[in-house]
Amino acid sequence: MKVFINKRIPEAGIKMLEEAGLEIIFPEKENLSYEEWLNYCKNTDTILSIGTEFTYDKNFFEACPDVKAIALYSVGFDHVDTKEATLKNIPIGNTPDVLSRATSDVAFLLMQSVARRASYNFGKVKEGSWGAFDPLHALGQELYGKTLGIFGLGRIGYEMAEKSKKAFGMNIIYHNRHHNEEAEKELGATYVSFEDLIRNSDVLSVHANFTPEHKELFNKSLFEQMKSNAIFINTARGGFHNQKDLYQALVDQKIWGAGLDVTNPEPMAADDPILQLSSVCILPHIGSATVEARNGMARLAAGNIIAFSENKKMPNCANPEVYSSRLS
Ligand code: DGY
Repeated sequence: MKVFINKRIPEAGIKMLEEAGLEIIFPEKENLSYEEWLNYCKNTDTILSIGTEFTYDKNFFEACPDVKAIALYSVGFDHVDTKEATLKNIPIGNTPDVLSRATSDVAFLLMQSVARRASYNFGKVKEGSWGAFDPLHALGQELYGKTLGIFGLGRIGYEMAEKSKKAFGMNIIYHNRHHNEEAEKELGATYVSFEDLIRNSDVLSVHANFTPEHKELFNKSLFEQMKSNAIFINTARGGFHNQKDLYQALVDQKIWGAGLDVTNPEPMAADDPILQLSSVCILPHIGSATVEARNGMARLAAGNIIAFSENKKMPNCANPEVYSSRLS
C-alpha cells in the first residue's frame, strides 16, 4: 500500500511505516503548489498529511478516487470535509492529546508575554532603545487572582486552565458545548453563558475546535463587550477572530492586549499594523512545535495509517462514524 507524505516528519513515524512494509512516497521538492500536491494525491492509496493549507473537500475526493484513508499530522481537521469523507468511506485520522501540553504552554506563554509586554520590550532591546528607567513606561498587569475565561474546555483548554490556576490562582470560567466535570471538580471551573464569558474574563483564551459557524466569531461587537483590561489569546485557529477588528479594539483600548499563535490570514503579512502595537505578542503557529509533541504526532499519524492498512479502525479518528456506516 502506498503512503504519500507531503513533508518530512520525525523519524519515529517513518520507521513505523517502513517496518510495517508500506511504500512511502515523498515529494521531490518542498512546498508543493496545489496542482503538484494534487498530482501526488491522485497516485496514492493513503496520505499522511502535513499542514492545513490544502483543503480536503468534495472536489478533492472527486479528483482523487483512489485515496482510501488520510492521516492528518494535526489534531485540528477544519480543512477536511469530514461529512464528504464519511460518504466516500474514507477515515480521517488526527493526533489528539500528544500536543495538548505543548499547545497550552504556548497559550500560557502568550498570556504572560502580553501581560508583561515582553515582545515589545524585547524589540526595544534589539533596536538599541533600552533607554533610562521610567517608572511609568510600558507597565504590565499582574495575573494573580484574575479570571481566565476558556472558550472550548477540552484537553488543551484544561491544561491552560490548570497551569493558570496553579501559577496565579486564577479563577476559571468556561463556555463549552458540554459541561467539563473534571475541570469543575479539580479546578473549581464554573460553566457560564457565552455572554458572561465575554463580559467577565480578564484573559479570554480560545481552545475550541474550529467549525464554519465560528468564522470571525470574535469581532468588533464582541471585543467591545469585553473588559478594558482583557487579554485575548488565540492558539486554536486564526479564523476565530477578525484581525482588523482586533487591531482596532486594541488601538481604541476596548481591550488591553492580544496573544496570537494563529492569525487571520495565516501566514500574516509582515506589514500588518497589528505588529506595531506594544500590546501584542504574535507567534507563527508553533503550538505543537516541541520535539516531544512532534514525535508523538508522528507516531499517532503513522499508527493511524498502519491500522488502516491492517483493516483495523484508526485509533484516533476524526470521523469515527465512517466505521459504523461500514459495519452496517
Ligand atoms: C493542530 O494540530 O491542529 C495544530 O494546530 C497544527 O496544525
